Amino acid sequence: MIYSETVLHKDSENSYKVSVGNDCTDKLLPALTAQYSSCALISDSNVAPLWAEKVRNYISCPSFVFIPGCSEQIKSLDCAQNLWNSFCEKGINRKSCVIALGGGTVGDLSGFVASTYMRGIDLISLPTTLLAMTDSSVGGKTAINIPAAKNTVGTFYRPKRVISDTAFLETLPKTEYSCGMAEVIKYAFITENVLPKLLDKGDFLIEAVISECVKSKAVLVDADEFDTSVRMALNFGHTVGHAVEMLSKFSIPHGLAVAYGCHRVLKAAVRRNYCSAELLDKFEDWSRRYCVVPEVTFSDVELADVMLSDKKASSGLIRIVFPKSMGFCDVLSFDRQGIVDFLSGID
Ligand SMILES: NC(=O)c1ccc[n+]([C@@H]2O[C@H](COP(=O)([O-])OP(=O)(O)OC[C@H]3O[C@@H](n4cnc5c(N)ncnc54)[C@H](O)[C@@H]3O)[C@@H](O)[C@H]2O)c1
Ligand SMILES: [Zn+2]
Repeated sequence: MIYSETVLHKDSENSYKVSVGNDCTDKLLPALTAQYSSCALISDSNVAPLWAEKVRNYISCPSFVFIPGCSEQIKSLDCAQNLWNSFCEKGINRKSCVIALGGGTVGDLSGFVASTYMRGIDLISLPTTLLAMTDSSVGGKTAINIPAAKNTVGTFYRPKRVISDTAFLETLPKTEYSCGMAEVIKYAFITENVLPKLLDKGDFLIEAVISECVKSKAVLVDADEFDTSVRMALNFGHTVGHAVEMLSKFSIPHGLAVAYGCHRVLKAAVRRNYCSAELLDKFEDWSRRYCVVPEVTFSDVELADVMLSDKKASSGLIRIVFPKSMGFCDVLSFDRQGIVDFLSGID
């Protein structure tokens, strides 16, 4: 069943659809792949044994499976180069298509490889985590990591189609589900949408929640594809969250680090009367029910130092996104001492 279809970049030649549904891959993929001479199906070592063969059955042209490994380490230049080489060996060409089957890591790597191989071949995205369905598969950002920093090398590259099939979520581990829910809670604060109602109610269809997140991201990406203005709202919770991820050496997963970041920023913003305490109450209620805000022992000075080294910091200033009311964000700029004072509640 297809639950919703959202079109990104409606007025442009390479607009693309994000389809959300349950058990919908078999309805969409055969027709989508009929036009290609071959497909390169990229997945990871956890997802491939569970889902790759099933997906291959729906591909209408010859397909080859590539499994670079799993988790964040696959977003590397080595993995990209191995894939480019393997593509050559298997005769993947400009009439072929890359299919990304996995979470955000597989999506980011596959997008990067598709956008650069033979100067760009088509990409179809089949996200399999809640985080990838609600966030990373939408918006066209691709990335690999280099030793100096995460997500530093990449491209903007629009897929031909995104199919968010919630059947894949059946095998998703609980912690990964919580990570996705943390991003869902973020979306409830950053644009006007019905997520607050769904999260309050509790008994929601996950397809409805994913669709709302996709629509929310589509609005921001349509207005600011290359991330120079309003798309920044997606960064709510992320500036502090990224610092927590780094300091924990990635033992605290991205989604939960973001939940921590949203919580700290909301608490600090309420203390300074930048937003009402109701927003903090909502966050605490939703995070209690749908995800876990981790205990973090890093000091605010440690957090500030890592935030300043982020690629988004410039001229010694860190920008922090916060919701000034439900659905509307603002940005604050701080220097090192400013961010320490803000987080630790000094006026
Ligand atoms: N491009 C963007 O706009 C964007 C946005 C947000 C995040 N990201 C990137 O996304 C990545 C995080 O994505 P993620 O949280 O999906 O992580 P992930 O891809 O590492 O997946 C998390 C874990 O779940 C497993 N998994 C995935 N789907 C599964 C399924 N259906 N059943 C069983 N196991 C499954 C994976 O093998 C992995 O171990 C980060 O690298 C981040 O930088 C990109
Ligand atoms: Zn995120």
